[in-house]
Amino acid sequence: MSKYPVNHRKESHYRKAKQKGYRARSAFKLIEIQKRFNIFKRAFYILDLGSAPGSWLQVTKQFAIENLEKYNDNHYSRTYYKIMGVDLKKLTPIEDVEIVRMDLTNKELTNKINEYFNREKLDLIISDASINKSGNKFSDQARQIKLCYEILKITKFLKYKGNFVIKLFQGNDYEEFYKVLKKKFINIKSFKPKSSYKKSNEIYLIALKKK
Ligand SMILES: C[S@@+](CC[C@H](N)C(=O)[O-])C[C@H]1O[C@@H](n2cnc3c(N)ncnc32)[C@H](O)[C@@H]1O
Repeated sequence: MSKYPVNHRKESHYRKAKQKGYRARSAFKLIEIQKRFNIFKRAFYILDLGSAPGSWLQVTKQFAIENLEKYNDNHYSRTYYKIMGVDLKKLTPIEDVEIVRMDLTNKELTNKINEYFNREKLDLIISDASINKSGNKFSDQARQIKLCYEILKITKFLKYKGNFVIKLFQGNDYEEFYKVLKKKFINIKSFKPKSSYKKSNEIYLIALKKK
């Protein structure tokens, strides 16, 4: 049990996000995921699904810039990065980041991705997309898993050995989704970031190395 009451901790993450200039406290979840799984290693072409208000895009851009310096060698490297964020909601622009306001289930997204990345495969796809919760745990979980299967289709743009992160709500269909993912990726880990609300049933699956 933490010595701080929940509201105090919530407030502290919120304050930290503000101090660092992040648009949301979710930024820390992605930073925790990176620390643990190094998903951004040699990632230059990156797609972020469910991006608003944009803190994952801010963190992604920082890691991509670092990668340009860090991996300037004879192995896979690039001299520039490309990052695209997709959301139903309007986002305040981020310099050098492509923002697409669209439902990620819209078939037109395929063209947008192909155009922006010049038909090249992506190094990393991350998704923090989540449905608007109704409060009914069962129907929310079912709607979220339906969205997750749509997101899974988008991994066709991921390169061989590319990494993928997706947010789910724990519940009935979770195991089945995990099994489907296991067929497509070499290594799957589930992860609940410390910066997630304790009472939330959200969980991230970190799928490493696409087969
Ligand atoms: C938790 S927020 C993402 C926060 C973001 N990662 C950040 O750090 O700022 C979830 C987002 O998923 C988006 N979303 C949900 N369903 C979507 C869909 N079908 N297409 C596009 N975006 C969707 C919502 O609009 C919402 O902005």
